Amino acid sequence: MKNILVIGGAGYIGSHTVRALAKRGYNPVVFDNLSKGHREAVKNFPFEQGDLQDKKRLSEVFKKHRIEAVMHFAAFIEVGESVQNPAKYYQNNTAGVLNLLQALIENQIPYFVFSSTAAIFGEPVREKIDETHPQHPINPYGNSKLMVEKMLADFDVAYGLKSTALRYFNASGADDSGEIGESHSPETHLIPLILQTAIGKRKSIKIFGTDYPTADGTCIRDYVHVNDLARAHILALEKMEKDKVSERFNLGSGNGYSVAELIAKAKEITGVDFAVEQAPRRAGDPAVLVADATKAKRVLGWQPEYDLTRIIQTAWNWEQHRKY
Ligand code: UFG
Repeated sequence: MKNILVIGGAGYIGSHTVRALAKRGYNPVVFDNLSKGHREAVKNFPFEQGDLQDKKRLSEVFKKHRIEAVMHFAAFIEVGESVQNPAKYYQNNTAGVLNLLQALIENQIPYFVFSSTAAIFGEPVREKIDETHPQHPINPYGNSKLMVEKMLADFDVAYGLKSTALRYFNASGADDSGEIGESHSPETHLIPLILQTAIGKRKSIKIFGTDYPTADGTCIRDYVHVNDLARAHILALEKMEKDKVSERFNLGSGNGYSVAELIAKAKEITGVDFAVEQAPRRAGDPAVLVADATKAKRVLGWQPEYDLTRIIQTAWNWEQHRKY
């Protein structure tokens, strides 16, 4: 198996995975509608513009490139927006994927890797979240992804489609080359916002909530480097091809860091003493979200290689030289 279609391949995690695939000897083909993605992020790879809601276009691309497996990254990811406009999320993240899955079946493409999220678990009921943790999303974004996971289970039983759902915790960092990195509009993620403050693009970084039941009162998250996530996709694909079973994995480092700790680390790495403000809690933020990624280690042999320092260093390198 060589020819992999990467839907949403011009986006943040998709573009890092495209590079990882190519390095490992695959032929990635990028499929993206460029509503959020950046053509420049994948300028050296075969590119097909299109939307996952367009089945005819998908079938055309599958045939043209003799696609053998599909990785799917094209999704809306803003929790707050999903509460305001759930229709947008169900249309793209759920109905769009249903359309894509039908196209896979019709074209007899047997393997699918799906970008899922820690948001499918909702409010954590224990400290570290493994795959058996209850799944009760607290926002439409999480629902839109969990619905797809349910479809995937049913599609394996009925049509034999093999899939792997990868639930990312906090994707972060940038490629070491400095050629690709994170660029969302609007940017809502903590690390890029901190670094944009350090570089002077923003006046201050706001800490959303300092009264959480954590050691320093700020939220704790599990930051995992985007290249570690990219590598997990390839391991998942290879495992799926070998064993012909569908799987789900939680992908995180297993280490939690607070917002205040991240800010301190970023000050140390950048050497800039930027302004920090305290702000009210952001709706829908759990106090602590940390993965138990034991299963990914056991089954895939996957373990993060980048620690928090390298995550912030690579993101800082990108922020200083960003291309898009
Ligand atoms: N935060 C701040 N200030 C900011 C931005 C964020 O204090 O300016 C805090 C948040 O409150 C949160 C932490 O930093 O406690 C991390 O926030 P992010 O927005 O970077 O990440 P989230 O954990 O909220 O989001 C992650 C993914 C999203 C996904 C979500 C689902 O990055 O794409 O999990 O739970 F939708």
